[in-house]
Amino acid sequence: MRSNSILCALTFTIRILLISIIGLLLILIFNEFSQVRKCVFISSNSELIIVCQMRFIAYSEKKEYARGLNFSCSLHHFLNSWKIADQYSYDFKPIEDSKVVYVTYSSSNHFSEARNQIRSIRAGSKNKIIFYDLGLENHQVTELRGVCNLEMRTFKFQLFPDFVSQLMGYNFKPIIMAEVFSEFEHYWILDTSVRFFDLQPFIHDFYGNITSGIIETMAMRHPSSHSIFATTNPEMYKYLPMDISLAKSLEMLDANTIFIARSNFTREAVKWNALCALTPDCMTPKGSNVFCSFDGDRYGKHAHCHRYDQSSINIVVSSLLERDGWKRRDRVQDDSMRNFSTIKRGDAYGIPLSIPCQ
Ligand SMILES: *[C@@H]1O[C@H](CO)[C@@H](O)[C@H](O)[C@H]1NC(C)=O
Ligand SMILES: *[C@@H]1O[C@H](CO)[C@@H](O)[C@H](O)[C@H]1NC(C)=O
Ligand SMILES: *[C@@H]1O[C@H](CO)[C@@H](O)[C@H](O)[C@H]1NC(C)=O
Ligand SMILES: *[C@@H]1O[C@H](CO)[C@@H](O)[C@H](O)[C@H]1NC(C)=O
Repeated sequence: MRSNSILCALTFTIRILLISIIGLLLILIFNEFSQVRKCVFISSNSELIIVCQMRFIAYSEKKEYARGLNFSCSLHHFLNSWKIADQYSYDFKPIEDSKVVYVTYSSSNHFSEARNQIRSIRAGSKNKIIFYDLGLENHQVTELRGVCNLEMRTFKFQLFPDFVSQLMGYNFKPIIMAEVFSEFEHYWILDTSVRFFDLQPFIHDFYGNITSGIIETMAMRHPSSHSIFATTNPEMYKYLPMDISLAKSLEMLDANTIFIARSNFTREAVKWNALCALTPDCMTPKGSNVFCSFDGDRYGKHAHCHRYDQSSINIVVSSLLERDGWKRRDRVQDDSMRNFSTIKRGDAYGIPLSIPCQ
């Protein structure tokens, strides 16, 4: 009887032990599996990193000239959200005048200019205007809401790194350009200094020339009377390299008036420009300033200043044009926007806007 109960207690203990061992084994096996899952995740992650290698290639006469530094992979999700990553493709569609969108932006200190700009657009076109609020006052927003077919948008500074809030670095502009890219087939990106006039009939010829392939799908046509080289901080070439002799010979074109027709070409241009804007060492390298000191030669000599987004978009577009074999533009003949648009800076006087829909 007594030995029986000892046996019973022993069997019980062994059972408990066995169950514990099986339990432990199960936990170990489960852990092992989750380790494996972690490994798989890591390896697919490193594949992602390889896929997102992003180095700008500079071209000269259809040949590769140099490659820039990698842009950070942490920026890739922006490209996806704007649908401008490499897996997206866009076929150019003929331009319909009435569907072209005017995209503009202003902070409160440029509001008078913005009024005059909008009035100049409305004098010749009823097309949609998108107005990005970069820090307007409430009464200014209210005034804009009274303009027919004008849509207000608040620029979401909180989505981007802090340096984007420094408006003098112009990082916001390539970002706006990228944000609207997948939304509109054809659009203008306009500083408040742009004034349109005589839109009809000249604008129709201009669009026609893009549709027929005479003008590229990202068009800037206000020459700035100096080279790209003269007003670009050389540090920018680390990310966006450029054949220096080409940078000295090509006219820098104003980025205040840009026409964009959606195409594979413009997707790439918008992408590189946005990557640069999201990388301070690219768009706003240390020591950059807007004040130039030209010393006679406005093409071959650096004027110790920088043009931020204008430098970047000029480098990017001229390289893509070189890659695709476009004829190099003539320095002085580059002003085919002059018949319908001009630049007016520091326009302090602006009559309040009242352009309701009829
Ligand atoms: C760029 O990224 C790739 C892939 O991550 C890496 O192999 C390469 O060394 C990087 N190059 C530079 C210049 O950082
Ligand atoms: C745009 O790119 C895609 C993908 O590379 C290509 O299939 C398509 O033909 C291109 N479109 C044009 C008009 O070149
Ligand atoms: C359009 O192209 C034609 C032919 O090259 C040219 O004569 C004309 O000036 C161009 N017009 C515009 C507005 O670009
Ligand atoms: C600009 O207008 C003038 C005068 O009408 C015309 O001769 C010239 O061809 C136009 N230029 C462009 C580029 O459209």
